[in-house]
Amino acid sequence: YEKTYVMLKPGVLQRRLTGIILQRLEEKGLTLAALKLMVIPREIAERHYAEHSQRPFFPDLISYTTSGPVVAMVVCGENAIARVRALAGPTRIEEAPPGTIRGDFAAVTRKNVIHTSDCSESARREIELFFSPGEILEYEDPNADWTY
Ligand code: GTP
Ligand code: MG
Repeated sequence: YEKTYVMLKPGVLQRRLTGIILQRLEEKGLTLAALKLMVIPREIAERHYAEHSQRPFFPDLISYTTSGPVVAMVVCGENAIARVRALAGPTRIEEAPPGTIRGDFAAVTRKNVIHTSDCSESARREIELFFSPGEILEYEDPNADWTY
């Protein structure tokens, strides 16, 4: 059982895509443990994407990430990190097939609609960066027997 950090990037709220993207996570049987709207402070965005700080696209990535409200979430389930990444699709938009969130809702790589943690270490770090422990809920899921 894993937790992963998922973030609907700026533009998703304005495009009214929040519901349809959340539906994809829900209908796959993943569980929402935390959810909030926020505008990410620059310093937090730089820490979140620190692994890319030397890349040429870093300034653009940070200005996009901080350019409007995001939907920040903790999503959990069996093997949740890999399953959410599969639903999101590849980073590079040319490689993101229809049926994935990026393939269906993103037109360019630099505005690829959704962030998902890439491994358990990142998930732990990112969840801690965006949520306090009290914001993450654990609750009974009576549907789990039908999903797993
Ligand atoms: P995130 O979930 O946002 O972390 O995406 P990812 O894990 O699929 O990709 P990665 O962590 O490698 O890159 C982080 C983000 O930087 C991507 O989501 C893109 O928005 C952006 N990015 C990655 N590669 C490029 C690139 O070559 N050019 C540009 N402009 N942006 C890039
Ligand atoms: Mg990444």
